[in-house]
Amino acid sequence: MGKVSIIDATDAHAAGITAIFNHAVRNTFSIWSETETTEELRRGWMAARRLAGFPVLAAIDVDAPDRVLGYGSFGVFRDFPGYVKTVEHSVYVAPEAQRRGIGAAILGALMMRARAMGMETMVGAVDSSNAASIALHEKAGFELQGTLKSVGRKFGKRLDLAFLVKAL
Ligand SMILES: CC(C)(COP(=O)(O)OP(=O)(O)OC[C@H]1O[C@@H](n2cnc3c(N)ncnc32)[C@H](O)[C@@H]1OP(=O)(O)O)[C@@H](O)C(=O)NCCC(=O)NCCS
Repeated sequence: MGKVSIIDATDAHAAGITAIFNHAVRNTFSIWSETETTEELRRGWMAARRLAGFPVLAAIDVDAPDRVLGYGSFGVFRDFPGYVKTVEHSVYVAPEAQRRGIGAAILGALMMRARAMGMETMVGAVDSSNAASIALHEKAGFELQGTLKSVGRKFGKRLDLAFLVKAL
């Protein structure tokens, strides 16, 4: 793997983003769904984020720019005016590209974009057993501010949701 760059994702990255998403659906508790998505649905999600003024970032291999190594985005936290300065984000890295600093780079880029938009708070809602994501966030200065018990389920298990929060 060559040099990695974090860019605004385009439709050329939708297939790679879909593959990472579906791998997480099949194999992890990071997305609380057991249903895989399609490239078309992901393209629609990307377009909706862009239309709302929110970024979808992709980590790409500079030598193979359509190869998506990871992606991240943020959007509305809760859809009431009082939450207008808070966003909820997510970050995913392809299994073969993990532990190389890509998740941290995407999260850092999202924080910069949120700050530039005048956002004041970022929230990550993470499965409480996801030690990698919690460590990633804490290293970036996020604080674990609370856990909602048994609010989700997947693969027959009941799941707890941890809120990782950072004032920008
Ligand atoms: C969580 C995730 C995004 C981390 O991405 P990554 O590129 O592998 O992480 P980085 O290499 O940037 O690691 C940054 C820091 O996070 C922590 N971290 C990352 N992976 C970890 C792991 N498996 N175990 C413990 N800590 C981990 C470490 O503190 C690490 O710093 P270090 O390497 O100096 O020790 C990645 O594991 C992933 O995509 N997992 C599946 C999807 C997911 O859980 N997404 C988060 C949903 S909220």
